[in-house]
Amino acid sequence: MMQTNISLLKYNTFGIDVKAARYLNYQSEQELLDFIQAGELTLPYLHIGAGSNLLFTKDYPGLILHSSIDGVEVVDETIEHIYLRVGAGVEWDRFVGYCVDNNWYGAENLSLIPGEVGASAVQNIGAYGVEVKDIIEKVESITAKGEKKTYGVDQCGYGYRESIFKLPQHREEFITYVTYKLSKTPSYKLDYGTVRDELDKFPEINLHTVRQVIIDIRRTKLPDPEVFGNAGSFFKNPVVSGEFFKDLQLRYPAVPNYQLSDGSVKIPAAWLIDQCGLKGHVLGNAAVHDKQPLVLVNKGGASGQEILALSDKICAAVKDKFDIQLSPEVTII
Ligand code: EPU
Repeated sequence: MMQTNISLLKYNTFGIDVKAARYLNYQSEQELLDFIQAGELTLPYLHIGAGSNLLFTKDYPGLILHSSIDGVEVVDETIEHIYLRVGAGVEWDRFVGYCVDNNWYGAENLSLIPGEVGASAVQNIGAYGVEVKDIIEKVESITAKGEKKTYGVDQCGYGYRESIFKLPQHREEFITYVTYKLSKTPSYKLDYGTVRDELDKFPEINLHTVRQVIIDIRRTKLPDPEVFGNAGSFFKNPVVSGEFFKDLQLRYPAVPNYQLSDGSVKIPAAWLIDQCGLKGHVLGNAAVHDKQPLVLVNKGGASGQEILALSDKICAAVKDKFDIQLSPEVTII
């Protein structure tokens, strides 16, 4: 059903109070197709998920679309794998919990990531050594012209928080279903950070204990959006050339780093921001989270502009100290 001139406050986890001229929450592929065929899909428009990776800096003059396409359906099964076709509007962590309860392996490290299934495939969400592309089989969409499309995982252009669905030429395309391929036999990824150490507290390693450990780690580091509005990591971890990294390491021998296969090096933005002395820094109603400086928080009543001003200040400080340009992970509207 379409609504007009509505507040987006409850549709973005940053808790920014802006308005949209029109808002459509559709329940099915058919409802979206009917809407398109009726000529209602007019520019400008923006398709959102749970609004957990967005920063609104002003009122939105056009149409906001949201999918409530529901359902998890087993579409295929082999001795080793199960294939699940999931509606774009399904809450991501509900899906992860469902896989864990059914003893299907692969999604557990992505526990408690806010957001919905459709956005998981746009953003290639990742955490604790797993990216969602590792378990995606295919992605279905509907274009702004009302055509249905299907992409195999290899056609989605997945990279670090990247996919073809973020490119301008694919913005006029809305994800309707994602098919995931989960393993029926145990296979865990436990080598990120403190995951393995934390598991020692439990009598055994199983899907439930891994999920619990991930949830516990996230809860200690990341602020609850219900308490302080936020959108998870505000910036991406920057990737620098091997040569640049060598110079940096000479100046800062303790710099944490992840070597990538092409010789470049990923550096935690949290460390860069921390080194600039900005952990916990407050600017108006916006702040740098005191436990994980990659996260910016709304301390209450912040405007998008205030969050943006804090982001600009951080980028300038990191550029000045390290000659590294941070880029946002969140979409700024
Ligand atoms: N660090 C500091 N100071 C701090 C916190 C962290 O220096 O106060 C440094 C440490 O060296 C630490 C490193 O930053 O080892 C990495 O920290 P962390 O393990 O928390 O991960 P991250 O690189 O900051 C990324 C993702 C998160 C994801 C975690 C775990 C990005 C942009 N962020 O954060 O994803 O949960 O790894 O896999 O890649 C998100 O995308 O919204 C998100 C929360």
